Amino acid sequence: MTDPAIRPIAIIGGTGPAGTGLALRWARAGETVIIGSRDAARAEQTAEIIRTRAGAKAQVSGMENSAACATSNLLVLTVPFEGQAALLKQLKTAMRQGSILIDATVPLAASVGGRASRTIGVWQGSAAQQTAELVPKGVAVAAAFHNVSADVLNSDADVDCDVIVCSDDPNAMQIAMELATKIPRVRALDGGKLENARLVEQITALLIGLNIRHQGHGGIRITGFPDAVYKTSWIS
Ligand SMILES: NC(=O)c1ccc[n+]([C@@H]2O[C@H](COP(=O)([O-])OP(=O)(O)OC[C@H]3O[C@@H](n4cnc5c(N)ncnc54)[C@H](OP(=O)(O)O)[C@@H]3O)[C@@H](O)[C@H]2O)c1
Repeated sequence: MTDPAIRPIAIIGGTGPAGTGLALRWARAGETVIIGSRDAARAEQTAEIIRTRAGAKAQVSGMENSAACATSNLLVLTVPFEGQAALLKQLKTAMRQGSILIDATVPLAASVGGRASRTIGVWQGSAAQQTAELVPKGVAVAAAFHNVSADVLNSDADVDCDVIVCSDDPNAMQIAMELATKIPRVRALDGGKLENARLVEQITALLIGLNIRHQGHGGIRITGFPDAVYKTSWIS
């Protein structure tokens, strides 16, 4: 099981669809979750909505983003690409040594007025590598959850999607994979080095195009490997 010392889960930019969907699923799985926002009152309002949906025992609170970083050593970043770099610079001093940051950011062209079904080039190679460059030394970065539909996460349906995790840090890899398996029917796969996040981020743009074309909420499944390759916490 995940190291219980790496907790609670603080979702930076947690008031949007991606953050609330992940928070809902983790709260239902018994995790303690902090919703981060630029506005503490908005964070608390969102936390209240998630508590109502996740059930009486749900442990969800809301905080301004830097307070959330200072309170937790397990951070999940769910902000639009256009806000990513500036926010990380602002939060740098609040992040704790030894923290793990799991980045779900996709560099969609919509960030610069283009289409959501395209990505833009990032100098560092991917949004996740940009994050790795901007966090303080001693904060390990994993990339994950890019291909999971927020609409599905925010529903009561099982999530029919694999989560590919990329990281250069074995502990961050393991923790991100274990968090993924807390979502019913999600399988986590080790996707290799953080530089592979570029490829996983691109799949999201493809999925958005497919969703528009076929009016759905597509996910991905990677097939053909032995069962041991797929990390799950549910029984099929
Ligand atoms: N939506 C999906 O299905 C999905 C799936 C996988 C991955 N993703 C990725 O996850 C990230 C979040 O997606 P989302 O749909 O939840 O995005 P979103 O609703 O546009 O933004 C999420 C939150 O980020 C904060 N934010 C917005 N602009 C910001 C800025 N300039 N600086 C700092 N914070 C800002 C806002 O929170 P406050 O105003 O409360 O601070 C907002 O509620 C994106 O990078 C997206 O590509 C999305």
